[in-house]
Amino acid sequence: MSIFQVKSVDEIMAESHERGHKLPRVLGSFDVTMIGIGAIIGAGIFAMLGEAAVKGGAGPSLIISIILTAVACGFSALCYAELAAMVPISGSAYTYAYATMGELAAWIIGWDLILEYAIGNVAVAISWSGYFNDFLRSVFGFGVPLWLRTDYHTFLKSGADVASVPHLFGMPVICNLLAASVVASLTWLLVLGIKESTRFNSLMVGIKLLVLAVFAGVGIYYFNPDNWVPFAPGGWKGIQVGAAYIFFAYIGFDAVSTVAEETREPQKNMPIGIIGSLLICTVIYVLVTVALTGMMPFTEMKDKIAEPLVAGLQYNHAAQWLVGLVSLGAVVATTAVLLVFQMGQPRIFFSMSRDGLLPRYFSKVHPKYKTPHITTVWTGIVVAGFASLFSLDVMAELCNIGTLFAFVVVCAGVIILRVKDPDRPRPFRAPGGYATPVLGIGFCLFLMLGLGFMTWIRFFGWLAAGLAVYYFYGYRNSRLRTGELAIKGPV
Ligand code: ALA
Repeated sequence: MSIFQVKSVDEIMAESHERGHKLPRVLGSFDVTMIGIGAIIGAGIFAMLGEAAVKGGAGPSLIISIILTAVACGFSALCYAELAAMVPISGSAYTYAYATMGELAAWIIGWDLILEYAIGNVAVAISWSGYFNDFLRSVFGFGVPLWLRTDYHTFLKSGADVASVPHLFGMPVICNLLAASVVASLTWLLVLGIKESTRFNSLMVGIKLLVLAVFAGVGIYYFNPDNWVPFAPGGWKGIQVGAAYIFFAYIGFDAVSTVAEETREPQKNMPIGIIGSLLICTVIYVLVTVALTGMMPFTEMKDKIAEPLVAGLQYNHAAQWLVGLVSLGAVVATTAVLLVFQMGQPRIFFSMSRDGLLPRYFSKVHPKYKTPHITTVWTGIVVAGFASLFSLDVMAELCNIGTLFAFVVVCAGVIILRVKDPDRPRPFRAPGGYATPVLGIGFCLFLMLGLGFMTWIRFFGWLAAGLAVYYFYGYRNSRLRTGELAIKGPV
């Protein structure tokens, strides 16, 4: 059988019903919307808003960038919703590619999604460690030593003295143990159960929404119309650069689709979760950006660029407890992102393993907790390891390119499936005909082209490594191609 062999939607659904490799359906529309918001609001809004406003000179016109990026993500979200409702299986874009473009494309996209989920989480874990340290400082007056909360290169860049850190076998010990430990704790929680994990997530989502609402209220209280003049100092280019930066803040609505297999009535609840979480976050992002750009001149942000919301409060001499509250919000928000991404990655590996593209060992479900524990633990080990050794910027850009590529594939998948399988029932159909997926592809490619040359090189390097793994393992063991896939008929 060819490497372009597609697995029909019926085959995919039938195979997911195999005993011992099936996840229970326990999540409702509220849970999945909370999962979406949990994944979306994090380092992007709490840390990158300042960078987005200052770098390209967007200033107050960042509000337009935020809306533009939301529209761009909206096209992809509608496509995700169409496919997740139609093929409610845990593999997300990987599964959709299998159904539309064949095994090789599915493998490539599965491999690519590691960039979004695992590498994205490496970036978020690193930024979590920064916020957590700020929080400890502001509330308890002490922090964690730099050599235990950063990587070697960032340590050197900060100008700190290597001689002052402990040495082991003559080598300085510099690693982000703080980031690794939060990943380890969340991994443990995820092994215990998805319901427990989503309850914890809903609590965190409540806290971060509350903190951002308080911030927006305070910002509007301090609003000074002079700060909005000029409104778009960087012109159209500034708005565009702002949009490219802030894309990171929206990543996550698609993570909802990775729990499709554990969702009741996915035909209805997947579209609600994906589109609902994106809409709610867009409203919040617009309010927070209006508040921030109105409460201080954006040029003043550059001194505290990684903590823009704190910068806004301090500029207006707001109460110290508000600063503490915002750092707490940032810690909680990034913890929720970590949790959801850490939940998504194993579920994609789980699907790939069930298809034979990764060893079967990875798709075992825990006999007591009913979670994909093997892939969860392996994801935890790899993410914790990388988070302790690598720097934030490289990881965040790789995450962006990987995610955008996955969005392109999902939009293309919608077009292909509508052509090939026009009569199959679509519980949710993205409105706007073919214009929606085509615009989704266009917007994503446009944002991808805005990313740096080295990011493209790393991206191609990663895909090449993936092809090698496919050649040596997946190609030989694919259950579709070895004929092992048991087709039990349509469901
Ligand atoms: N959207 C997620 C964040 O901003 C990745 O942290």
